[in-house]
Parts: sequence; structure tokens; C-alpha cells
Amino acid sequence: EKIAVLYGGTSAEREVSLNSGKAIAKGLIESGYNAELFDTKAVSLTELTQQGIDRVFIALHGRGGEDGCLQGALEYMGLPYTGSNVLGSALSMDKVRSKQIFVANELPTAAFKVVDKTSFEERVDDATLLTELLSSLGGRVMVKPANEGSSIGMAQAQTAEQLGNALTEAFGFDEQVLLEAWIDGPEYTVSILGDEALPAIHMETPREFYDYEAKYQSNSTQYHCPCGLDEKDELAIQGLALKAFRATGAKGWGRVDLMRQPSGEWQLLEVNTVPGMTETSLVPKAAKQYGLSFKALVERILLLSAI
Ligand code: DAL
Ligand code: MG
Repeated sequence: EKIAVLYGGTSAEREVSLNSGKAIAKGLIESGYNAELFDTKAVSLTELTQQGIDRVFIALHGRGGEDGCLQGALEYMGLPYTGSNVLGSALSMDKVRSKQIFVANELPTAAFKVVDKTSFEERVDDATLLTELLSSLGGRVMVKPANEGSSIGMAQAQTAEQLGNALTEAFGFDEQVLLEAWIDGPEYTVSILGDEALPAIHMETPREFYDYEAKYQSNSTQYHCPCGLDEKDELAIQGLALKAFRATGAKGWGRVDLMRQPSGEWQLLEVNTVPGMTETSLVPKAAKQYGLSFKALVERILLLSAI
């Protein structure tokens, strides 16, 4: 069987994907698979059939590779691929739709508002409007492009000026922007493999939030796994993560991000259907704690792939 690891791509998370793809291909080869890397910036999908590829490991993050587009093309070609199908990928990629689904399923997620670029771009200087928006969400918000990953385009805002600037920045990435009430608490993440939740990880950063720098560039970020919760609380967030994963229709593998408020309440942030997979990424850390090496992890993900 010949496996294509698709990596690179053209999204804002290209750099992360290059690292994920290389690590995955190495892991598959170490597990004895005939795996080959394909940078999707340069390769056309018909080339995959010409090269006799039997199965695809998707290592693309962000738009085009994680949002259902590629998954649809592979379905059409009849090529089995790892992870979520079209619907689960598309819904999980879109933070606005994800939150609407959490709410519809009575899963906890912070209050939010959605702002459209077409109707709002001209009004980013309207201090009265911005102040109203801020106070409707408790005075402080996190601004997020609806369809990005790795915290790209995100900023916090607690004044009209900060909000105007954050919206302008976020509109550079997306037509739709999510304003989420600020959650004053640490971030946790739960990795999902098949039907199981792996041990939770607690991320601790001295930065304002767990942003791109804290994720990939800073060595001051601390990762706690075991995460320090007692057994009952850890089971609770694992259960919540599984519910969120199923609610957006995600499948195979992924990672659910959450935050804990000072009151102890949990808030779901999002579901990632192609989470980072460098050797130091979060899913491999959780898998290690669970007793799975990196190469055993990639093999499990591959074996969970279906059409
Ligand atoms: N979007 C990045 C790759 C992650 O969730 O790990
Ligand atoms: Mg993400």
C-alpha cells in the first residue's frame, strides 16, 4: 500500500503543516509503511492516482486542507483519507458554526457575537458602536477570524480603539469574525483518537494568551500532562471534549480546545480536525502519556482512515 502524506498547502498555517507532514511521513516510514510526502502547492490531485497512491494522510492545516474542500475531492476520487469527512471538517474549521452547534447541543461555550466584513468594514471607526459591542460581551473580548488556526489574526480588545484595530486585522483573514467574551482562565486541550479521549494537557504561558508565538516560537510555554486536574475533573473535560467532537461531526482523530474560568466552569473553544503533528505538538504529547509512541500514533490514525 502506498500512502501520500499531503502537506504544505497555501493557508496561513503552511509553515506548521510543513513540520507536521515531515514528522508524520517519518513516523509512517518507521512503522514500515511506504509513505511519500506531497506538497500540495505543487502537486495536482490527479498526480496522486497516476502515482498509484492507495491512501492519503492529510497533514494540511487551515483552509483548503482542513475545511472539507480536499476531503470532498478525495471522496470524489475514491481515495481513503485520514480524519474527518467533508461536513465534520467544514463545521469544525468554522469557529462561528462550531459555537452555534455547541449552543444547540447545550455544551458550554463563552458568549459571542459575529461580525461580517461587508457590513462592518466601514464602521470600524465608530467608537459608539464598538463600545456597545464590547459592553454587550462583558467589556473585554477575543477577536477571531472565523476560519483560521494557530491563533492567526487573533487579538484581545477592551477599548473601542483596540477593537477597531483587531477587527481590521481579522478582516484581512476572513469575511466573518467572531467576538468571544473574554475567558479569564488557563487553556486545556483534549486529544481524540477514534472513540477515545487521551489525557488532557494544560498549557501555561506568561503571554496574554496562548498565541502563535506561545505555540511555536517561545520556550516559556509550559505543557502539563498529566494536567493536574483530579480524576473526576479530568473525566469531565474528556467527556465534554468527546461530546463537542461528535457534535461537529468530527471523526477519526482530532483535538478539542477548552478554557477554565476562575469559577471552575469549562468553556469550549473549538475542535481541530487536523491538529499539529510535529514531534513536540500537543496530540503526540497526550499520546505519549497514554503510552503510544509517535510512530504508533500515526499508524493508529492511518488505520482509522476510511471512505
Ligand atoms: N491549527 C493547529 C495546527 C492546531 O490546532 O494544532
Ligand atoms: Mg485551531
